[in-house]
Amino acid sequence: MKFAHGARVIGVGAGLPQVVVTNFDLEKLVDTSDEWIKTRTGISERRIASDEETTSQLAIAAAQDAIGFSGINPEDIELIVVATSTPDNLYPSTACMVQGAIGAKRAAAFDMEAACTGIVYALAVAQQFIGSGTFKCALVIGVDIHSRFLNWSDRNTCILFGDGAGAFILQATEKNEMLGTYLRADGTGGHLLHIPNTGSAYPHAGVTPPQATHGFLEMNGRAIYEFAVNAVPEAVRAACAEAGISVEDVDFLIPHQANMRIIKSAAERLGMAAEKIVSNVGEMGNTSAASIPLAMWQAIRRGQIKEGSTCALVGFGGGLTWGAAIVKWTAVDQRQTNADEKTTKKEAKI
Ligand SMILES: CC(C)(COP(=O)(O)OP(=O)(O)OC[C@H]1O[C@@H](n2cnc3c(N)ncnc32)[C@H](O)[C@@H]1OP(=O)(O)O)[C@@H](O)C(=O)NCCC(=O)NCCS
Repeated sequence: MKFAHGARVIGVGAGLPQVVVTNFDLEKLVDTSDEWIKTRTGISERRIASDEETTSQLAIAAAQDAIGFSGINPEDIELIVVATSTPDNLYPSTACMVQGAIGAKRAAAFDMEAACTGIVYALAVAQQFIGSGTFKCALVIGVDIHSRFLNWSDRNTCILFGDGAGAFILQATEKNEMLGTYLRADGTGGHLLHIPNTGSAYPHAGVTPPQATHGFLEMNGRAIYEFAVNAVPEAVRAACAEAGISVEDVDFLIPHQANMRIIKSAAERLGMAAEKIVSNVGEMGNTSAASIPLAMWQAIRRGQIKEGSTCALVGFGGGLTWGAAIVKWTAVDQRQTNADEKTTKKEAKI
């Protein structure tokens, strides 16, 4: 698609809970093992939010990190889009909470939900506003605290997810660096990955507290696996075609971090060498809408992604939804930080 104005990513940031939960910690909760989890998923540990940490807090931390990276003033931001399935409350939106907290006085703000693909959808939405000339600077955040919606006695699901937030700053530019996007959905597969009894279709919600309780994430793991290994190559190929480049021109594949086996299988189907894969699923687990910016944030800090790299950001998840964005990374960290990740870790208390 041709836009009147170009857009580029000028900052990336992260907001992470402090507590690390390892596979060994989970061995104490459910009938599982570190070996099973690592072999089937590639995950060793994940961050889990404490009772005091909220979705909006993580989102605000990621926003401030990305603002620092890009060197912009919060008042430069004209649009805030937050992708989340797990907001603090139905409203106010997480985006409005971020807007108030960071002092983005000139910004419009709203949330959108496309489960784990949410950040790709949100990037595409922000690009539309910048491309049309409506706004010049946008803050795009993916954030989720899935741990609050997990059944911690279900070994099929509780081992997979982590909590976190990742943010991008997008700016209007003469030379477009957001080269192509592709978005798809298939609502007939919604039941394969869902969190029932959490909305207005749940008749007890809010009626009989404190007895009322919400539902938990339910998943057909095999079906989602099959869906994902096909959806990722489809989305990357289509977004590359939209960008006018070939898959070989992609320097880095930054996929939704759900499972290392899905990521490797999809990369193989695309004919991509292992060195092109960006992954932090081993230490973060599946952080849903946050996973792509968190993986990119770490890869930039570690020097894996360098200026001028062409990156394929590709997501898949509940809905079902899937999509990709081809982004040329040309930003420089305005803080000139070293490679240290300035996050602190605490021992898990479970
Ligand atoms: C969930 C997933 C890791 C399971 O891996 P798998 O190879 O498909 O495993 P299977 O479903 O064949 O299960 C094998 C066995 O392991 C068991 N098992 C499941 N979870 C386990 C765990 N945490 N520890 C030990 N055993 C476990 C199953 O009960 C099953 O036992 P059974 O054969 O006695 O019934 C995999 O299907 C997957 O990653 N799916 C995609 C999930 C996903 O990414 N969701 C989010 C998308 S956004």
